[in-house]
Amino acid sequence: MAKSSTISIVTVMLKMKRTLIIGNWKMNLNTSQASILVHRLEERIKNHTNIEVVLAPSMLVLQPLSTQIDRRKFRLAAQNAHQKDEGAYTGEVSFAMLQDIVHYAIIGHSERRIYFHENLDTIRDKVAAAVRNGITPILCVGESQTERNAGETKRVIHDQLVTAISNLTSAEIENMVIAYEPVWAISTFGGILAKPDDIKKVMDYIRHQVSELYGKKTSETVRVIYGGSVDDHIAGGYLDIDGCDGVLVGGASLNYHKFSGIVDAANRIHNKNGDEQNGR
Ligand code: PGA
Repeated sequence: MAKSSTISIVTVMLKMKRTLIIGNWKMNLNTSQASILVHRLEERIKNHTNIEVVLAPSMLVLQPLSTQIDRRKFRLAAQNAHQKDEGAYTGEVSFAMLQDIVHYAIIGHSERRIYFHENLDTIRDKVAAAVRNGITPILCVGESQTERNAGETKRVIHDQLVTAISNLTSAEIENMVIAYEPVWAISTFGGILAKPDDIKKVMDYIRHQVSELYGKKTSETVRVIYGGSVDDHIAGGYLDIDGCDGVLVGGASLNYHKFSGIVDAANRIHNKNGDEQNGR
């Protein structure tokens, strides 16, 4: 192969981000059920260099899974933690306590905002606490059906996003993940299937906001993913969106056929895009 084409392939590969597939198990699976699911996933999911697979089990299960998982295939995420590093907060676990166990933490999920009344300031403090403790935030933003019907999607996304990242530097934002999860599309809250074209508009708006405040490089580097009723049949439609860096999966992540099918879809799309960029 000619040297110049070797260099161009390497350049393209370096430019391509790894696709992020995150399974949010929510309050499901006890320790032995979780262990069985990971075992099944390890059998089915290959060690892909172009895909990062992240599992977010319950707090109780994080520690045992951290010793079970094949770290070449999986990373762990917390579903929540407390914004203070330590203190008299009965029943809570801090990001500081999780720093050797997880790479990521889901913050601002609509179930936390709605059921646990987490407001913009709490979420901002949790994002800062995660970063302070070396954990990458997966910040969830998304409008409700009522807000969407009222034409308030951009305002809601703007407020959730700008407040949450207001204590971060550009470099810290570049390292984080922003998950666009319209509340109406999440299976728990209605599970309406979102059209990829509509999702693209909001994802573009998210990058535009980051660009306005922190510059073009930061907006291009930050990973923006989609979440809401994603399964193995429809994942490809979202993963194919220009600028979509992955998916956050709830219900379907509890089923190893479906979740490994989503990883397969991501792999196909990654390879197809790589071929297109290389003119093959
Ligand atoms: P769902 O959940 O895939 O079951 O809609 C997504 C989420 O809550 O992150």
